[in-house]
Amino acid sequence: MENLYHPDPLIQIRNLNVDYITDNGDFRAVDNVSFDIGRGEIFGLAGESGCGKSTIAFAINQLHKPPAFISGGRIVFEGENLLAKSKKQINAIRWKDIAMVFQSAMNSLNPVLSVEEQFVDVMRHHTNCTRDEAIAHAEEMLDLVNIERCRLQDYPHQFSGGMRQRLVIAIALSLKPKLIVMDEPTTALDVVVQREILQQIFGLRQQFGFSIMFITHDLALMTQLCDRVAVMRHGQLVEVNTSKEIRTNPKHPYTQQLWSSFPNIHEAKEAVA
Ligand SMILES: Nc1ncnc2c1ncn2[C@@H]1O[C@H](COP(=O)(O)OP(=O)(O)OP(=O)(O)O)[C@@H](O)[C@H]1O
Ligand SMILES: [Mg+2]
Repeated sequence: MENLYHPDPLIQIRNLNVDYITDNGDFRAVDNVSFDIGRGEIFGLAGESGCGKSTIAFAINQLHKPPAFISGGRIVFEGENLLAKSKKQINAIRWKDIAMVFQSAMNSLNPVLSVEEQFVDVMRHHTNCTRDEAIAHAEEMLDLVNIERCRLQDYPHQFSGGMRQRLVIAIALSLKPKLIVMDEPTTALDVVVQREILQQIFGLRQQFGFSIMFITHDLALMTQLCDRVAVMRHGQLVEVNTSKEIRTNPKHPYTQQLWSSFPNIHEAKEAVA
């Protein structure tokens, strides 16, 4: 398959297999998947529900739990195979080098801690900054996602869904990760807030130069935001190409099928009987 690789890779996924071990036998959710994400690149992963997108995202962060099991392949981050590292080494990389914003991330804030405490926890766990430094940094991060500094003392339930989502993203970015994996980061939000948040994230990417792996069901949005897009089906990649090619010249029949499932506002109107 063309376009799987990148001339300046930050992370290289090679022949990755992830199985779920169930009472009915082993199920291969990710089947021999290989691709690179370049430094500073926005890489999209598209495909129907259940095709294995989140399973890849969890494997990259080494956050998969039984019954999920990586049964083969390599995940090479800055030249080092993450699958060969100890739990302690992975913990040092997680958040600091690779951060993740989950599906329904707005619910991943701790409801009994103020936003300030949550920033301080993450910062102090991963760096040797003082509490005051962590708070000063948290204030800067709130500026970036357009939330007033005075809200730091508030608790998650005092924010709207979109604001909570932005808080999670601000916390994920606070350690300046090199890669941020976003698994449907804005699916639960209305389209206006979704666009606003994504525009902020992509603006920050230009400022800080991190790479993004972006998962969404919305192929049109994905091809607007990403540099390259991978299309996945039944655990395998079927096509990887630049957004422009995926949009204007999709080669694989499944990619064409995905497009045809979207209404096209430029097509001639059909009379409704
Ligand atoms: N804990 C589990 N046990 C068994 N099978 C699982 C488990 N979690 C996921 N799977 C299976 O693995 C496959 C891939 O799931 P995954 O969550 O990666 O899909 P996805 O592409 O992220 O879907 P969605 O777009 O709906 O989020 C699915 O067939 C799913 O049924
Ligand atoms: Mg998913």
